[in-house]
Amino acid sequence: MKKITIAIDGFSSTGKSTIAKQLANTLTYIYVDSGAMYRAVTLYAMQHKFISESYFYVDNLISSLHKINLTFKFNKELGFAEMYLNGINVENEIRTLEVSKFVSKIAEVSEVRKKLVEQQQKMGINKGVVMDGRDIGTVVFPNAELKLFINASAQKRAQRRFDELFKRGDKVTFDEILKNVEYRDHIDSTREDSPLTIAKDAIVIDNSEMTLDEQFEKIYAIALQVINKS
Ligand code: CDP
Repeated sequence: MKKITIAIDGFSSTGKSTIAKQLANTLTYIYVDSGAMYRAVTLYAMQHKFISESYFYVDNLISSLHKINLTFKFNKELGFAEMYLNGINVENEIRTLEVSKFVSKIAEVSEVRKKLVEQQQKMGINKGVVMDGRDIGTVVFPNAELKLFINASAQKRAQRRFDELFKRGDKVTFDEILKNVEYRDHIDSTREDSPLTIAKDAIVIDNSEMTLDEQFEKIYAIALQVINKS
């Protein structure tokens, strides 16, 4: 079967990565979580004290970008690739609310976007890739055969993210998660470089009232149709 490129965009915590992983595993495609890359750069910036609640030394981050090496390594047990920052597995660290608080500021920086988009395009060069993020259908793979835009109510999204972090044992409140989700949505959609927008040819899916199985069935059927037509 011919391999295609699947681009999945949408607001924060819409479950993009869940559906992207399911699709990639079923189709034996590569899954790339582009958000993990922005999160890893954010972690680097935090570790090097380039960003905090009260400052952001953006020039220092830009001049250090060449020192940031991002790689994905497939973890067989988990069934997906984990994020490595300069050779260190940071998969857990990048998912904290602390990183979520700064990531959208980091993702506004054009130099950061340029570096990551180049790497993402290389990863998708042979097709057979499912990538999720904010600018995948609009900037990274404007020619993707299938573009999905996933949405859900802010309340539902915050609840899902809260459950996820609570299960891991993170000490977070629903209110701070909701605030973070809304804050990131705002910055991501209004930034100058590659704002989150719905690509003209994207299929929009609201999964507020869908179970994971329902969502997968619906989207997998769409994917098969597109693959058969390609
Ligand atoms: O929390 P969630 O899983 O929804 O977000 P993520 O996919 O991990 O992405 C974290 C943040 O990275 C987003 O809020 C954006 O600011 C940024 N991002 C981006 O700008 N472009 C992408 N292609 C992916 C993520």
